[in-house]
Amino acid sequence: MNFSRDTPPLSNQRIARESMTTLKNTWIGLAALLILQSLWLEASYSQVSANPALGDEISKQESIFQSRGAQVPDGYSIDRSLEEYALALPSGFDSALAQLGPGDRWLDIGAGTGQAILDYYNSDYDLMHWEGRERRGRKAQAVAISIEDRRTPRWQQDAAALGAGKIAYLFDRRLREYSQEELGLFQVITDVIGGFSYTENLSLFVEKVLGFLDLYGSFFSLLQDVHSEEGTNRPHYAGAPFLTEITNTDGSKAKVCSWLKSITCVQVSCEFKATWKPPIEAFRVRKICSDVRVPPLALIHYNAGTPPERRFQVGHPSPAAAGMTSAPR
Ligand SMILES: C[S@@+](CC[C@H](N)C(=O)[O-])C[C@H]1O[C@@H](n2cnc3c(N)ncnc32)[C@H](O)[C@@H]1O
Repeated sequence: MNFSRDTPPLSNQRIARESMTTLKNTWIGLAALLILQSLWLEASYSQVSANPALGDEISKQESIFQSRGAQVPDGYSIDRSLEEYALALPSGFDSALAQLGPGDRWLDIGAGTGQAILDYYNSDYDLMHWEGRERRGRKAQAVAISIEDRRTPRWQQDAAALGAGKIAYLFDRRLREYSQEELGLFQVITDVIGGFSYTENLSLFVEKVLGFLDLYGSFFSLLQDVHSEEGTNRPHYAGAPFLTEITNTDGSKAKVCSWLKSITCVQVSCEFKATWKPPIEAFRVRKICSDVRVPPLALIHYNAGTPPERRFQVGHPSPAAAGMTSAPR
């Protein structure tokens, strides 16, 4: 099973170099520089100031987000269907979504064109999910979040036809920039190669997700090419590291699944899908009480790509180690 258009690390470097060339010649360069200014403040400033290379990589990543037309890298897949979501996410996702009624809400973080949400509102969805249709009635409200605006004419048409309040598309901000007052609570939150795969601040990202999750609601997501809970797999590309890695303070490696399980007030299940290329691990994080505490992670490596290669270390970096002038956020 292929999970569309992931790129190996070498291609990541190619994308990064291409972006740099493009930067010199187009408006993207200007836009990326302006956005970078705010990112420097917003991303973990101390980590970036301690390691200027991180700033370059975050800038390259921004140019991938803002790419349009022919400049969109092959690996940057923005229009996965709801069926692709259901295949990739943990087995409980399809029924959790089908259980939602008109009083419920679904948030899709990193929605791209929002195709999965459009599919949910298509009448074919009801034909394929007959059970519970009467109870479901007019379906849940669905909210898409994306850094860049990838809405298509189809999105605009469907949103107009559905009427106010059924589907919404928010852009120009990252998840961490929204407050709970603005977004409210959701019973189902998904992220398919969105912020969970791209963020440079994984612990803050998960903290925000769990803040937007209603009690007993579930967050469904996945990562490509990570060390699985069972620990039986190796990095997909020979000679390359896993795409997302976590290192303990003593230098030993932690698995993403174990780190998620160390969060308080959640139940976590991890499903490794070894036959996918690259293999993926799908996660379900169910919120079971309100006192959620997410163990902090510090960014120590970020290589722009689709998705980026990232390494985090458990705990905040010490001020001395990071050469910080201010406390980490
Ligand atoms: C590769 S596309 C995936 C689109 C869609 N989920 C799909 O599978 O077709 C990545 C998406 O994640 C979004 N994204 C990345 N980091 C994000 C963040 N921190 N907050 C919100 N959206 C983010 C991008 O703007 C983009 O919409």
